[in-house]
Amino acid sequence: MNNQSTLLDTKALATTTAVTKASSKAKVLTGDRATGQLHLGHYVGSLQQRLILQEQYEQTILVADLQGLTDNGHNPHKVSDNILNVVADYLAVGIDPTKTTICLQSAIPALSELTMYYANLVSVARLMRNPTVKSEIASKAFGQSIPTGFLTYPISQAADITAFKATLVPVGDDQLPMIEQTNEIVRKLNHIAGQQILVECQPLLSKVSRLPSCDGKNKMSKSMGNCILLDASAKQITTAVKSMYTDANHLKVEQPGQVAGNVVFTYLDAFYPDADYVAQLKAHYQQGGLGDGALKKILEECLQQLIAPIRERRAMYINDKAQLIEILKAGTEHAQAETDQVLQQVKSAFGLNLF
Ligand code: TRP
Repeated sequence: MNNQSTLLDTKALATTTAVTKASSKAKVLTGDRATGQLHLGHYVGSLQQRLILQEQYEQTILVADLQGLTDNGHNPHKVSDNILNVVADYLAVGIDPTKTTICLQSAIPALSELTMYYANLVSVARLMRNPTVKSEIASKAFGQSIPTGFLTYPISQAADITAFKATLVPVGDDQLPMIEQTNEIVRKLNHIAGQQILVECQPLLSKVSRLPSCDGKNKMSKSMGNCILLDASAKQITTAVKSMYTDANHLKVEQPGQVAGNVVFTYLDAFYPDADYVAQLKAHYQQGGLGDGALKKILEECLQQLIAPIRERRAMYINDKAQLIEILKAGTEHAQAETDQVLQQVKSAFGLNLF
């Protein structure tokens, strides 16, 4: 990986202004496939970071419905039913549409058009070599029936990123190959144009990129059915925390317990606001005398406090679909104007600008 990546420490970033001043106008693009409600894994992996980024950068969040279709072509409701769910999740956690442009991929024609132009610059072999695509293809068991849209989604993602002239793209580490492929396309296009039309981008990695599922066996994921949604009820939170794996050998309260690989501590690290207190809990647990029940109670209260206001706000938004649509439409119109300019430049680079 020859990308320069920036490790974003959300807490540090919130308290420093150095980064802000250096690049206050930089454009940030992030997105989510609209295939389900967002969960706590999204919260620590990206949403929290976006709350900070919206204060400092020109941030766009793309509801990637077209990308969601790339492996749901025969099950499109999974995407269409979730567009407003995702928007409600954004607003519920505090994404502010006056600071962040929230827009809908399928309603921005320039993104699809750019994909067609870029497709001529990327070989099938290169797509097959993309490590993310490769492992996704393996895990999805498409067999000989890989949808063309799926194989080519890195090209569409390059269209998304370049259309907004984004220089910073917050992603999980699984998405780094997408950034690399985007920058290859940028260099090829600029070479053809004989000038710098498109800009290269850098990934912005969040500190916590993956939250494990409650049993610690996988990452938290809607498709695996192991997630705590952002509108989880108090009861669902209690049940989820109770089911969490700790240290299988920690059978009695007075025994020393293991912190490494203990899911409850992973969650406390991710969500508990006072890191010193978590350090004390770890020491106590390792020494013996801190039971799993007491430990889980602390995590449970912390998650109840975190989720309750999000759940409330989310319910308010989801009950006002007209408002959600209005917000998404306004953001999309803003995005259309922005991305059309880049499309015209790219068409000109290919000499396709008669009128
Ligand atoms: N690939 C992202 C995901 O899996 C969604 C996405 C689409 C995206 N276009 C993007 C992310 C552009 C960052 C930039 O959720």
